[in-house]
Amino acid sequence: MKELQFARHRRLRQTANLRAMVRETHLHVEDFIYPVFVVEGEKKKNEVASMPGVYQLSLDYLIEDLAEAVDLGIKSVIVFGVPNEKDEVGSQAYHDHGIVQKAIRKIKETFPDLVVIADTCLCQYTSHGHCGIVEEGKILNDPTLDLLAKTAVSQAKAGADIIAPSNMMDGFVAAIRYALDEAGFTHVPIMSYAVKYASAFYGPFRDAAHSSPKFGDRKTYQMDPANRLEAFREAESDTLEGADFLMVKPALSYLDIIRDLKNHFHLPIVAYNVSGEYSMVKAAAQNGWIDEKAVVLEMLTSMKRAGADLILTYFAKDVARWLKE
Ligand code: PBG
Repeated sequence: MKELQFARHRRLRQTANLRAMVRETHLHVEDFIYPVFVVEGEKKKNEVASMPGVYQLSLDYLIEDLAEAVDLGIKSVIVFGVPNEKDEVGSQAYHDHGIVQKAIRKIKETFPDLVVIADTCLCQYTSHGHCGIVEEGKILNDPTLDLLAKTAVSQAKAGADIIAPSNMMDGFVAAIRYALDEAGFTHVPIMSYAVKYASAFYGPFRDAAHSSPKFGDRKTYQMDPANRLEAFREAESDTLEGADFLMVKPALSYLDIIRDLKNHFHLPIVAYNVSGEYSMVKAAAQNGWIDEKAVVLEMLTSMKRAGADLILTYFAKDVARWLKE
């Protein structure tokens, strides 16, 4: 008689402790970057309609919120400014007393050890909502680089620990690295949004940051979601230009790209779990259709399993809380 032969995978799944012993991927509070939106004024706490639990905060409330985050063990925060005034060239982005510069100064004064990351882009600050200078309906690459470099230097002057350029102009890492070095900030790292797709998952963020383009879309600078080799080209040039971290954005529909970058580059890989990914989970959870905590932990674990070293997520505080339980 022929004997039935097969592997007994279930041997290692029998008890919770056994499963814990062979678990390959773990989440730590150090993995998470907490995004915040800061507005002018006092005592402002505006919930973003499409992002329940996410607020635009004035500086006073922002500090309270960050005290809680620090208490939960969160090590880093990325600051998005929502300015009162916008113009054609986004001048509030590089004003020494712009909303982000004020926020960075205050955060570093209050929490010197918290790693403060500055998002370096123009779309929240331009009247047309594009990430660069616009002329006759076109987004100009090289003239935009000067403004980005100025923005990065003003953020570093305010005390930013990391500069995170997100606008997808060609050469932004080179331009920012050069300007930072010239201004004496050779020690300030660049976290490049190297691989950023023109994604429909950014919708809720644009409500939060008031940064929707007033005409057209971002497809001439952000990447086509259908492309993989282009991600290698972007990551390669940013690495050569001096990036210290490579980001992939969004995360959930791009886990293959995260793995590709992890396998081929030797810089820390950051996954941006974007607004639309957050809002989908929130909406389903509010309807009682999914278990929010279980789904979020599964999603974030999958990003780490795919190769992310760090995850930028609106769930950062929730996860920090859950990891403590
Ligand atoms: C652009 C920027 C975007 C996001 C952050 N900064 C994308 C965009 O509007 O094109 C999206 C983040 C999110 O969806 O959470 N500088």
